[in-house]
Amino acid sequence: VPICVESDIVSARRAVREAATHAGFGTTDVTRLVTAASELARNIYKYAGTGNMIWREIRSGELHGIEIRFVDSGPGIVDLEAAMVAGYSTTDGLGMGLPGAKRLTDEMEVTTAPGKGTSITVRKWLGASGS
Ligand SMILES: Nc1ncnc2c1ncn2[C@@H]1O[C@H](COP(=O)(O)OP(=O)(O)O)[C@@H](O)[C@H]1O
Ligand SMILES: [Mg+2]
Repeated sequence: VPICVESDIVSARRAVREAATHAGFGTTDVTRLVTAASELARNIYKYAGTGNMIWREIRSGELHGIEIRFVDSGPGIVDLEAAMVAGYSTTDGLGMGLPGAKRLTDEMEVTTAPGKGTSITVRKWLGASGS
């Protein structure tokens, strides 16, 4: 899903809702995934301008889940450690996007470099969060 204009965030939300439902997640986990994706897609739009969301179903042994990547070639996250703390924002944001996405998923990996862009991968496993 390309993220270029604000309405693409709606498309990203819809894609994640469908993919997560198809993967077998219940409504609570679907909402968690949609919320996390919404924040990460909005960050691309807000900070990088453009980028992409790529999702796929994943399997590891008995586990089955979903992986969603958010990739941009924007300015990068200058202070990643700070950015992961709730309430930190370099703009007028609430600073809950990155910590929220981490809390709402099972795994989150961030790769970012100044001037080179940001790649964020989140994963959620079926049955791993008790809902
Ligand atoms: N894709 C991105 N590219 C560059 N900087 C980012 C990106 N995503 C997040 N950031 C930086 O991390 C900070 C924290 O992000 P977030 O937790 O979503 O809070 P908010 O968006 O409300 O500021 C942002 O203020 C911004 O400086
Ligand atoms: Mg944000």
